[in-house]
Amino acid sequence: MSPVGPTTLVMLLLSLVSLAASCTEQETSSLLQFISELSRDGGLSISWGNASDCCEWEGIACSSDGTTVTDVSLSSRSLQGPISPSLGNLTGLLRLNLSNNMLSGGLPLELLSSKSILVLDVSFNQLDGNMDDLASLAPRQPLQVLNISSNLFTGQFTSTTWKAMVNLVTLNASNNSFTGQIPTHFCNISPSFAVLEVSYNQLSSTVPKGLGNCSALRVLKAGHNNLRGSLPDELFSATSLEHLSFPNNYLNGVLDGSPIMNLRNLATLDLGGNNLAGSIPDSIGQLKELEELRLFNNFSGEISKVNFSTLHNLEILDLLDNSFTGTVPESIYSCRNLIALRLCGNNLLHGQLSPRIRNLKSLTFLSIGYNNFTNITNTLQILASCKNLTVLLIGSNFINETMPDDDSIDDISNNSLTGEIPTAIMLASEKTAAHFDPRIFDLPVYNNPSRQYRIHTVPKMLDLSSNKLTGVIPSDIGQVTSLLSLNISFNNLTGPIPPSICNLANLLVLDLSNNNITGEVPAALENLHFLSKFNVSNNDLEGPIPTGGQFGTFQNSSFGGNPKLCGSVLGRPCSSTEVGPVSIVDRKPFGSKVIFAIAFGVFFGVGVLYDQMGASANVEAYAHGSGGGLASPRPVMARRGYGLGRGLRGSCDNTRRLSGGKLGRR
Ligand SMILES: *[C@@H]1O[C@H](CO)[C@@H](O)[C@H](O)[C@H]1NC(C)=O
Ligand SMILES: *[C@@H]1O[C@H](CO)[C@@H](O)[C@H](O)[C@H]1NC(C)=O
Ligand SMILES: *[C@@H]1O[C@H](CO)[C@@H](O)[C@H](O)[C@H]1NC(C)=O
Ligand SMILES: *[C@@H]1O[C@H](CO)[C@@H](O)[C@H](O)[C@H]1NC(C)=O
Ligand SMILES: *[C@@H]1O[C@H](CO)[C@@H](O)[C@H](O)[C@H]1NC(C)=O
Ligand SMILES: *[C@@H]1O[C@H](CO)[C@@H](O)[C@H](O)[C@H]1NC(C)=O
Ligand SMILES: *[C@@H]1O[C@H](CO)[C@@H](O)[C@H](O)[C@H]1NC(C)=O
Ligand SMILES: *[C@@H]1O[C@H](CO)[C@@H](O)[C@H](O)[C@H]1NC(C)=O
Ligand SMILES: *[C@@H]1O[C@H](CO)[C@@H](O)[C@H](O)[C@H]1NC(C)=O
Ligand SMILES: *[C@@H]1O[C@H](CO)[C@@H](O)[C@H](O)[C@H]1NC(C)=O
Ligand SMILES: *[C@@H]1O[C@H](CO)[C@@H](O)[C@H](O)[C@H]1NC(C)=O
Ligand SMILES: *[C@@H]1O[C@H](CO)[C@@H](O)[C@H](O)[C@H]1NC(C)=O
Repeated sequence: MSPVGPTTLVMLLLSLVSLAASCTEQETSSLLQFISELSRDGGLSISWGNASDCCEWEGIACSSDGTTVTDVSLSSRSLQGPISPSLGNLTGLLRLNLSNNMLSGGLPLELLSSKSILVLDVSFNQLDGNMDDLASLAPRQPLQVLNISSNLFTGQFTSTTWKAMVNLVTLNASNNSFTGQIPTHFCNISPSFAVLEVSYNQLSSTVPKGLGNCSALRVLKAGHNNLRGSLPDELFSATSLEHLSFPNNYLNGVLDGSPIMNLRNLATLDLGGNNLAGSIPDSIGQLKELEELRLFNNFSGEISKVNFSTLHNLEILDLLDNSFTGTVPESIYSCRNLIALRLCGNNLLHGQLSPRIRNLKSLTFLSIGYNNFTNITNTLQILASCKNLTVLLIGSNFINETMPDDDSIDDISNNSLTGEIPTAIMLASEKTAAHFDPRIFDLPVYNNPSRQYRIHTVPKMLDLSSNKLTGVIPSDIGQVTSLLSLNISFNNLTGPIPPSICNLANLLVLDLSNNNITGEVPAALENLHFLSKFNVSNNDLEGPIPTGGQFGTFQNSSFGGNPKLCGSVLGRPCSSTEVGPVSIVDRKPFGSKVIFAIAFGVFFGVGVLYDQMGASANVEAYAHGSGGGLASPRPVMARRGYGLGRGLRGSCDNTRRLSGGKLGRR
């Protein structure tokens, strides 16, 4: 990353020109001019100084006869500064890729008006300017692919600049600040126009009827804008469409079954996060190519009437936050390729989970929370044999049912699975839902082309405080070794503190207070070196309080209300039989809803947990959501230099934006 001095440049230039074998002088000087105008060139001038023929330079490719520069591929080179118009002087340039740098300023008209460039990718920079301010281009540009996404461009798609692009196949203008309407004129002027991506802008008005003329359009993505009105029937004349995606706009009206049936090639239909209402058209089953169907927000009706059984390719079905009634349609269990199913937040879906869900061998993500499902024992029994399930969100169902204990599930599960799929039970109370909300839990994200899914947002915090939990603390809790915070205070738990808790080596916060826990405080807890908040007050513990490790730092409030505990911190020597006063703690009202997030052991074996996790989000969660009145551990983490720098993606905010939903909007 050395700035280029003028003297160096001139010398470089002279030496190169004199030695030039294949690359023309004009091309060499155009390229050198380009790097000389950069404020940071990412070491290119040094690297290019090694060869006289510019065709041998890093990031440059030439025609087969070695005389013409055809490709400039300089993405992710930490380039800074403006894009020089001199690149427009590379008269044989076919592909220019400057993506993922820190380039700023405008996009030179010389590039857009190039008589040779077919592919222009300047995505992920800080380019700005109003695209409408560009002078008009000569007609008939050869440009086929234009990626200007993730920049700071403004303006509309109306100017003559755009009207000259008669060969355009792909326009990616997502993640800028474009306003106005979705452009449709490309469909009229460019017969091969196939991909239009304008999501994450500020487009408004209605969805234009002109899209119906886009006979070659395969991909139309306009989510996260301010589009209004209903979907025009004309849109469904664009029968080549494979991906139709309008999430998080203000679209309204109903989804009419008959026109949408024209889109026989549809693989993705995403209309979530709008104000569309009515029922899912029965004829949705005719869209046999569907892989992804996302319809969340205002849809309603008896869901068991919809026939999903013909959707053999369906991988993602997201019906979050609607008002469907009835039971889970049996036809869903015929979608054998289903990877993610989200029925969360419909409130009135009821009944017991069908054992047929085991047919869904690829099911990885299941979210059915905030409904009225019954029989948690049955549910856990069935799901214990769904081997590929890694995220299960079933909270706010099973009203007034009792959690089955560990043993009853293990009896249940096939012997061959014992040890392989220990159930680790993760529950979060309603009040932390703002920070860990299963309704906005992200769905698997595909990484093309391998189509492998990746799950981010894995909770590191387990807060099931202030519920009506009974029974003993499951010893499997010790398997959730990624946990940073465990809060099960204000319940009615009995039995001892399971020694396995001492395996939670990363634990910062442990709150078991206000239960009926008996037995001793395991001395092995002294080995939890990061433990900074500890509370077992108001239980029925006995014996000596450990004194080693972090226990030297805890105050008497951590232990009060256990008449049989002894130790100097309570001023009650262990030889004494004196019984201290019981401190009275206000009981918080029991939350009526419990969010159950049950993750299986295989999941924890994957090892993605810490890396993928938004550690910062969890610190937030502790700070705001801790049920036992514990303070944020943030200062402690900072003091210890805890590894917070990694994996800041996957925070709740990110999740909301990606998955939309009521909570997700803006
Ligand atoms: C340029 O050549 C020198 C000597 O051959 C070599 O040490 C250096 O690594 C080369 N630099 C680049 C950027 O290729
Ligand atoms: C392009 O090349 C012409 C002729 O060599 C030269 O006059 C002009 O300055 C160059 N333009 C840029 C922007 O470098
Ligand atoms: C530009 O380069 C990046 C990084 O190699 C690549 O991901 C992207 O696909 C390229 N753009 C085009 C249009 O090929
Ligand atoms: C820009 O968009 C083109 C066309 O969709 C695509 O091929 C290319 O990979 C994109 N570039 C990046 C860096 O994603
Ligand atoms: C458009 O570019 C964005 C990145 O800015 C990328 O995420 C998206 O996949 C691209 N869309 C298409 C259709 O290539
Ligand atoms: C939008 O662009 C910014 C800046 O390049 C980037 O950080 C962000 O991830 C992009 N968002 C999307 C949705 O592509
Ligand atoms: C289940 O997961 C395993 C391991 O990740 C994988 O090999 C297998 O193909 C998956 N099964 C299905 C039906 O997707
Ligand atoms: C939930 O289901 C239970 C048992 O099936 C039923 O008694 C109750 O009325 C349902 N609640 C609602 C709000 O429908
Ligand atoms: C709940 O499920 C269990 C296990 O499948 C079953 O034995 C029991 O009868 C079910 N209870 C009800 C009320 O259906
Ligand atoms: C759950 O139990 C509480 C009190 O124990 C009772 O008031 C409430 O009606 C019960 N809810 C249902 C749905 O049975
Ligand atoms: C502990 O159990 C006793 C009865 O066994 C009960 O009266 C008391 O309410 C329980 N305490 C808590 C905190 O649940
Ligand atoms: C706690 O459990 C005990 C024993 O099971 C029971 O007697 C008591 O009523 C429960 N207390 C509450 C507050 O649910």
